[in-house]
Amino acid sequence: MTIKKIAITTGGGDAPGLNGVIRAVTLAACKRGWECVGIRHGFDGILHADEFETGGTLELTPDTVRGIGHLGGTILGTTNRGNPFSYKVELPDGTSEVQDISDRLLQGFKNLKIDALIAIGGDGTMEIACQVAALGVTVIGVPKTIDNDLDGTIATFGFDTAVGFATEAIDRLHTTGASHNRVMIVEMMGRHAGWIALEAGLAGSADVILIPEIPFDLKAVAAKVNRRNARRRKFSIISIAEGAAPIGGEASYKTTGGIANLGGIGEWVAENLRPAVPNQIRTVVLGHLLRGGSPSSRDRLLSLRFGAAAVRALEDGKKNVMVGLNPPTVHHVPLEEATRKMKVVPVDCDMIKTAADLGICLGR
Ligand code: F6P
Repeated sequence: MTIKKIAITTGGGDAPGLNGVIRAVTLAACKRGWECVGIRHGFDGILHADEFETGGTLELTPDTVRGIGHLGGTILGTTNRGNPFSYKVELPDGTSEVQDISDRLLQGFKNLKIDALIAIGGDGTMEIACQVAALGVTVIGVPKTIDNDLDGTIATFGFDTAVGFATEAIDRLHTTGASHNRVMIVEMMGRHAGWIALEAGLAGSADVILIPEIPFDLKAVAAKVNRRNARRRKFSIISIAEGAAPIGGEASYKTTGGIANLGGIGEWVAENLRPAVPNQIRTVVLGHLLRGGSPSSRDRLLSLRFGAAAVRALEDGKKNVMVGLNPPTVHHVPLEEATRKMKVVPVDCDMIKTAADLGICLGR
C-alpha cells in the first residue's frame, strides 16, 4: 500500500516522552514526503471534532514539532475515557449510555484520507488499536506508560523519568525522616505492577519496598522498623506501590468523580503500623508528580527511537504491530500479543534478590 498520509493519536495517561514520539514520527514521515496529522485528545478530535475550537486535528510539520522533544505531556492532548468501541454518549434527556461509535471514527479516517494510524499509548490504547486494525485500518502501536507494565517491550518511555523523580523524592525523605526519627511512607503510581516502587526504592535505599506482586505481612514491616530503631538509625523509609496489598487483603482505591482509582495503601500502612512501632509516621503520595515534567535523557532517546521505528515499520509494509525495545534493537510484536498479559515484576528476578541481599524488607 502506498502511504501518503498518516495520523497520530496519544491515548491513556500522559507520560514524559510522548512529544518525542510525535516529533520523531512527524520528521521521519515528512522526510518520506508523507503528510502527518495529529488527532486531539485520543480519538475525540475525530469523534467530537465540533467541540474543538481550533479543529479536532493538528497538521504536524517540522515547524509544529520544533522544540517539543524535551516537553512533558502531549501537544495533542490525551484521554483515558475515549474508547470509540465503548463510548459514553450523552442522550437528549440528560442521561448517558455506552455505545460503539467506531463507525464515526472510520468515517473520520476516510474524510481525512488517512492511510495509516500510529497509536501511542498503554495497554488500553493498544487494545483499542487492535479493534481499529480489525476494521481494516493499518495501525502501528507505540508503547507508552510510566508503569512499564506493557509486555513486548523491555521498557516504555515515561518510566525512567518517573523512577528518577521518585528516587529524588526518597532522597529528600531520608533527611527529614532522619531528623525526626520518623517512618516516612512514600506511595507511588504503577497500577498493578511494582516497577516504579521497586526501582526507586532500591536506587533510593529504602528500608522497606512493598509491591503488588508480593502481598505483604505488616508484622514483617514492623519488625524491620523496630530492628532499625534498636540500632543507630532510628528512622525508616517505606517505598510502596499504589497497587500493593496485605496478605489476604485487597488493594486500596479512592473514588473521585464516580471513578475508582488505586490509592490509599500508604495511609493504610501508616494506620496499621502505628500501634506496632514507637516512631511518628508520615505518608507522602507522589501521584501525578510521576507523570509530569520533562523527560529524562533515556526517555527522550527511547521516544525518538520508537517514533522513527514506527514510520520505518509502515514503510516496510508492516501493519498491526507494536514497536518495542528489545536491546540492542527496536523490534515489532503483533498488537494482540502486546495486550495479552501485563508485565509485572517477577518475584524471583535479580532486583528482588538484590533487595533481599541488601537487607531490604519486601514485606515477608
Ligand atoms: O497508567 C498510568 C497511571 O499513572 C497509573 O500509574 C495510575 O494508577 C493511573 O494512570 C492514574 O490515572 P488518572 O490519570 O486517570 O488518575
